[in-house]
Amino acid sequence: MSLAEVDESSGTIALFPAGTSYVVRIEPDRGTVRHVHWGDRLALREAVALPAEPGPGDSFGDPWDGAEELPVDGGLRYGPPALEVRYADGTGPLEPHLVGFEVERGGDAWAEVRVNLRDAARPLDWTLHYRVHAASPVVERWTEYRHGHPSGADVLLVRHASAQWNLPVRSDYRMSGVFGQWAGEFALQRRPLAVGETTLTSRRGHTGHQSNPWVAIDAGEATETDGQVWCTATATSGSWRIEAVRSPEGRCGVICGAGHEGVEVSLAAGTSWTSPVSVGVYSAAGFGGVSRALHAYVREHVLPAPERPRPVLYNSWEATSFEVTFANQRRLADAAAELGAELFVVDDGWFGRRDDDRAGLGDWTPHRRRFPDGLRPLSDHVHGLGMRFGLWVEPEMVNVDSDLYRAHPDWVLHLPDRTPSVQRHQLVLDFSRPAVTDWAYEWLSRTIGAYDVDFLKWDFNRSFSEAGSHGDRRDRRAIFMEHAEGVHGVLDRLRRDHPRLEVESCAGGGGRVDLAVLARTDQVWTSDNTDAVDRLRIQYGFSQVYPAQVMSAWVTDSPNPMTGRTIPLRFRFHCAMAGALGIGGDLTRWSRQEREEAAGMIALYKEVREVVQHGRQYRLGSPDDLQHGVLYVSRDRSEAVVLQWRVGAATRTLQPRLRLPGLDPDAVYTLHDDSGTLGSVSVTGAALAAHGLPAGLPAGPYSSRLLRLRGR
Ligand code: DGJ
Repeated sequence: MSLAEVDESSGTIALFPAGTSYVVRIEPDRGTVRHVHWGDRLALREAVALPAEPGPGDSFGDPWDGAEELPVDGGLRYGPPALEVRYADGTGPLEPHLVGFEVERGGDAWAEVRVNLRDAARPLDWTLHYRVHAASPVVERWTEYRHGHPSGADVLLVRHASAQWNLPVRSDYRMSGVFGQWAGEFALQRRPLAVGETTLTSRRGHTGHQSNPWVAIDAGEATETDGQVWCTATATSGSWRIEAVRSPEGRCGVICGAGHEGVEVSLAAGTSWTSPVSVGVYSAAGFGGVSRALHAYVREHVLPAPERPRPVLYNSWEATSFEVTFANQRRLADAAAELGAELFVVDDGWFGRRDDDRAGLGDWTPHRRRFPDGLRPLSDHVHGLGMRFGLWVEPEMVNVDSDLYRAHPDWVLHLPDRTPSVQRHQLVLDFSRPAVTDWAYEWLSRTIGAYDVDFLKWDFNRSFSEAGSHGDRRDRRAIFMEHAEGVHGVLDRLRRDHPRLEVESCAGGGGRVDLAVLARTDQVWTSDNTDAVDRLRIQYGFSQVYPAQVMSAWVTDSPNPMTGRTIPLRFRFHCAMAGALGIGGDLTRWSRQEREEAAGMIALYKEVREVVQHGRQYRLGSPDDLQHGVLYVSRDRSEAVVLQWRVGAATRTLQPRLRLPGLDPDAVYTLHDDSGTLGSVSVTGAALAAHGLPAGLPAGPYSSRLLRLRGR
């Protein structure tokens, strides 16, 4: 079955992403690409036969409202433009003309459609790109903007979106997004979409804790398991903007792109600029359906090494804070190895004069007092224990009190006539400058080589301010995008030159989680909040967009150092086992009994992690329910794992049965329940989906369990 088909006579182009259709129509007389259909599967001939949408029927209406693939500023258009331009003479409105289109096919694996447009008598061309991959319902879209003349003045792209995603007309619209703050990321909010323009954005130069570049729209009726949902995510790690537009007439479209308002792109003669990819997913299987489609897409088309199982890591941050020394890290490494950790990560404090957060960032040589013989002895010790060796780094930052800043004060983002706003005693280095990215690449590569570093935790602990570029390009707001591109470039070079290197993206927890950073890392630090109860909510929101295999989750001490909450070790483990398990507590203070229990849980995690990290994920209820869980089903459906939690004490009210979708209906599954509640059970996949299991967790608060299912 072809992934893309064209009906030349009507100008209809249909893409067929896994069981769905995405159809547009070229309208040469109007110079536009009209959106026709995005949803359940339609054959090309059915799409061609669809009657045209009626126009507005009055002299104030916008004939293209919500029906164009990339609405421009110009003509009878009154919604927010996806493309807005300022030419050197101050004029703006565009008059688009269709130049043509082409379809390219990569055998049965993928298809790409390119539609070329041009502004009448002006030096700007742009190409709408669409790409679909076999067996994925995801549509990738991006736009390339070109200054079409070899000479002449710059063209300013005021708005330069990747795409506008248009939804079918429905009587109502609801929007879901994940929002939050430091230590409280990824809180899912689902609200009716207001008439007007609803903007989700980052104005920070990084993806942000406050909002993630993902939005889902439904007609207000979808559930976790059923109903039509459309969602979109943008692959950008700098500032970004998503505008959900609900017109008073009743249409809905979502404009996605890099940069916030005022972040313009200046195109010099003969140059081009390509927007980040925006992905769109439609599913009739509810919110769970779009999440699973995104998870599979991340695994199959985004992550650089998706098949590598994520190791059980130990991280020293909560145990030793900045006080890392050779002696205390060695002690922790010994204890971590005994528990079964596979990777030992030394967090902040190992370099420069980093006695606290006031100094040292930028001076990336081992702290002389704490590591008098350098890091090699610790790296050798960790490797000798059979673990991999990881280091925390924050390459984009510099402390004012550092040799680097004293040598290169011009390397930071700064406007010469403005007072720099220092945060956490640090400033941001300008990664749009090759001198800076070359320096970063050089010391990182040298450090990786010198200490056999297998893993980097790449941190970023403040947002931009006075974000000018000191060099020759002052006050260019494009820095809000270009800095992130510089970071991507360094990561790409490091991965190319150190193919075994693994990277965790961190920005004070989950402040830089997006599809672009995932294309060059292996996992992300989800949140600095490691309280297992808070984490259930954070993980629930995270799972809307991103798969479990990239969700780094640690078991830390109790009472939790941030929240003071006391939670049993078993519950903390069950919570962290829902992603890429790590340990972050002070193991030297754990009792023998706790360490034994932890070793058992880690061993169990290793047995189930293939299913957790690479399986399909089904959310079973939500943290708003008295108890909820997550089911992971292996790709061949021969195995499944359920993690289930209840924070409060059981009530006498019955909980809904635990129905398990996604299994092989004909297979008989044998269940093992690590809480012992269920006893021995063998039941078909069909019965587990239709009837389910008693939901009951053991009595008492902080109750949890892990169920393993093996089918035959
Ligand atoms: C913020 C991170 O999220 C923490 O895990 C830790 O690495 C600190 N930075 C270190 O400064």
